[in-house]
Amino acid sequence: MCAPAHFQVTYSINPWMDPSKPVDLALAATQWEDLRDRYRSLGHTVELLTPRPDLPDMVFAANGATVVDGRVLGARFAYPQRYAEAGAHREWFRAAGFTEIREPDHVNEGEGDFAVTDSCLLAGRGFRSSPLSHAEAQEFFGRPVIGLDLVDPRYYHLDTALCVLDGAAGEVMYYPGAFSPGSRSVLARLFPDALIAGERDAAAFGLNAVSDGRHVLLPQAATGLFGPLRDRGFEPVPMDLGELLKGGGSVKCCTQELRGAPPVRGS
Ligand code: ARG
Repeated sequence: MCAPAHFQVTYSINPWMDPSKPVDLALAATQWEDLRDRYRSLGHTVELLTPRPDLPDMVFAANGATVVDGRVLGARFAYPQRYAEAGAHREWFRAAGFTEIREPDHVNEGEGDFAVTDSCLLAGRGFRSSPLSHAEAQEFFGRPVIGLDLVDPRYYHLDTALCVLDGAAGEVMYYPGAFSPGSRSVLARLFPDALIAGERDAAAFGLNAVSDGRHVLLPQAATGLFGPLRDRGFEPVPMDLGELLKGGGSVKCCTQELRGAPPVRGS
């Protein structure tokens, strides 16, 4: 995670960003700290990236890389305003002792567009990550990558429209309206028992959630998802990240998951 110390909305690269709306930085910090503390109280380890004043979107740490089996596929951002974040992430991984770090050839915005299950990666395209990054990820991770076409600019990253609830069981929730008809059919075929989110919960960023397989941290306004999650044995953990939503992100966008090979310290 990366604290929103320099979070601002000074440019607009997604429909949620309106530079004329002021951001309450103190409130953004409190909301972000609540999320960090909640992870810790649930027993998770949170590693921190140092925020940079010239990178106001750096709080959205999910976009900086994708880590699977301890292998790190770096990001390459679509917009120049965020280019420099990629290097900051790769530098963090190097310093933390990760050794297999790839600087990508093609545009990919990390976990914004890559979602991981035990059997495959789901990969969004259409607004940010290049379709060419899918083949690159497949070769690098040695896992099948399934490309999905995003068609609604409000859901410009895969993680705004789909969340893996249980990677081992292949359980997901998603908002069909964000995908092309063909990609909807692919999702229905792969995940016939998926939790289907409605427009209201999707617009509240309810799919921008993080599941540890039991707890699902999600925006508090996505109330329509709480019951269905409970019915499936998950515990919804509502969070308020309202200030971060002004940048077009919420719980998941603020969280990059480190899968495998925990950082080796002091070596
Ligand atoms: N303002 C950022 C952008 O448009 C928000 C990124 C949100 N991150 C995410 N994982 N969806 O790039």
